[in-house]
Amino acid sequence: MWSGCCTSRLSWLSFKYIILSFSLSFLSKNVSDKQGEASGPTACEMGSVQCNTLFGAWTVGSAGQCLYHEAGIRIGQKGIKRVLMQVHWNNPEMRDDYSDSSGMTLHYTPKLRPNSAVMLMVGQWYLEIPPGRERHAESAVCSKEDTHRLLTGPIKIVRALNHMHYLGREESLEIIRNEKRIAYVTNETTYSYDRPKFVTISPPLEIQPGDEIKTTCVFKSKNKKKTTFSGRGTSDEMCLGFMVVFPAENLLSRTCATWRSLSLTKLYRDLNPYGCNITNFFNLSHPDTRPLLEKLENNCKPFSICLEECKEVVKEVRKHPCLSGDVGKYIVHRAAQMFNGDFPRFLSLLQSCDVEMLKDKQVQRLTNNNESSGSVSPRRHLELIVSFLCVTLILLI
Ligand SMILES: *[C@@H]1O[C@H](CO)[C@@H](O)[C@H](O)[C@H]1NC(C)=O
Ligand SMILES: *[C@@H]1O[C@H](CO)[C@@H](O)[C@H](O)[C@H]1NC(C)=O
Ligand SMILES: *[C@@H]1O[C@H](CO)[C@@H](O)[C@H](O)[C@H]1NC(C)=O
Ligand SMILES: *[C@@H]1O[C@H](CO)[C@@H](O)[C@H](O)[C@H]1NC(C)=O
Ligand SMILES: *[C@@H]1O[C@H](CO)[C@@H](O)[C@H](O)[C@H]1NC(C)=O
Repeated sequence: MWSGCCTSRLSWLSFKYIILSFSLSFLSKNVSDKQGEASGPTACEMGSVQCNTLFGAWTVGSAGQCLYHEAGIRIGQKGIKRVLMQVHWNNPEMRDDYSDSSGMTLHYTPKLRPNSAVMLMVGQWYLEIPPGRERHAESAVCSKEDTHRLLTGPIKIVRALNHMHYLGREESLEIIRNEKRIAYVTNETTYSYDRPKFVTISPPLEIQPGDEIKTTCVFKSKNKKKTTFSGRGTSDEMCLGFMVVFPAENLLSRTCATWRSLSLTKLYRDLNPYGCNITNFFNLSHPDTRPLLEKLENNCKPFSICLEECKEVVKEVRKHPCLSGDVGKYIVHRAAQMFNGDFPRFLSLLQSCDVEMLKDKQVQRLTNNNESSGSVSPRRHLELIVSFLCVTLILLI
C-alpha cells in the first residue's frame, strides 16, 4: 500500500500504480501563505490539520457522484479556493508494468444552489479483529453529547457511503432519537469493497442536535492468520461511514468518530476529557502526574518484578482517570507510538504486578467458587493455568 497527496497538479498521475480511491478535501482556513500546499507528491496520512474537510470521494467501482439539487459545494471567492486530492494505490506485487490514466471531471455551475453541502465522517478508529472468525462485529456511536456539540441546527443527509476494506461484510448507519431508531441511513448486508454502494437518500433524512448516529460493521476473518488492526493500508481495516449533508454552516466539525468507546470529538476538543488532561498526564514532572510516579518508584520495581507492597499502590494509581477504562488503553496506545522518555518506565512500574494480581484474583475466584459449590471442577483449574500461561507469555513477548 502506498498513499500520497497532490495539490492541483495532476501530472504525476502517470505513476505506475493502480488507482484505488480518490478523495478531495478543501482547505478550511484562509491559507494565504501556501501553508499545506505541496510542490510535489507527499505522504499525507488522512488529510492534515490545514486540510481536513472532505467533500468528495471516489472509490473502486463507483461511477461518480452528483449532489442533491438543493445543495452544492461552493467554490470561488466565498468558497473553496484550493483543494488537495488524495490518491490511494494498491500494488501488493510491486509490479512495474501497470500504468494509470485515471482522471476526474468536476462539474460546476454559476447558478448558486440554496445550500452548501459537506461530508460528515463517522465510525470506529480502533479495530482489533481476531483471525479465523466467521463474524466479528464492531460499532461506534456519535453520541447525543457529540451531536449537541457539533450541530448548531438540523442537517439533512442526501447521500451516504459505507466504508470498510476486504474483511467487511455488513455495515449499517442508524439515526437514533430518544433511544429509538428512527431510520437507517445505510443497511448493507452484502458489502463488497470493490463494489461500493453510494446511497441516495430522497427525501433527505434529518439529523437533529441530540440525535445519535450509530455505525455497525461486521467483518469475516476466516482466512486470516493474524489479527487485523485499523489502518490506511488495503490489508488493514476500517469501519467508517461518509454522509453528504447540508447546510454546511450547521456542522462545526467534519468528523464524529470514536476510539473504542471514547469520543474523538471529546478527546481532541475538551481540556479535560473524561477527567484526564492528556497533555499534563504525559508530562511526568507535572504536579498532576509526579506523585503517581513517585508512589510507584517507592514501592515497585520495573520490568515485572512484583513486590508485595507494589500491588496496593498499583490498584490505587490505576484509579486515576487517565489510567482507567478505555482512557487508560488510549494512553498506553499513545505511549507505545511515542516510545521514548520516561513514560515507558512509568508503565513498566505500573504493570510489574499484573501477573501476580491476576493470579490473586483467580485464586480468590476459585476459593469463592469452592465455598459455594464444595468442589473445584478440573476445567476451572485448566482455565486458570491456561490464562496464567497466556498472561506470562504476553508479558514475555
Ligand atoms: C482571506 O484572504 C484574503 C486575501 O489575502 C483577505 O482579503 C481576506 O480578508 C481573508 N479572509 C479571512 C476571512 O481571513
Ligand atoms: C437491512 O437489509 C436486510 C437485507 O437486505 C433486510 O432484510 C432488512 O430488513 C434491512 N433492514 C432495514 C431496517 O432496512
Ligand atoms: C490541560 O491543562 C492545561 C493547564 O494545566 C491547559 O493549558 C490545557 O489546555 C489542558 N488541556 C489539554 C488538552 O492540554
Ligand atoms: C511539564 O510540567 C512542568 C510543571 O508543571 C512544566 O514546568 C513543564 O514546562 C512541563 N513540560 C512540558 C514539556 O510541557
Ligand atoms: C476446595 O474444597 C475441597 C473440599 O471440599 C478442599 O479439599 C480444598 O482444599 C478446597 N480448595 C480451596 C482452594 O479452598
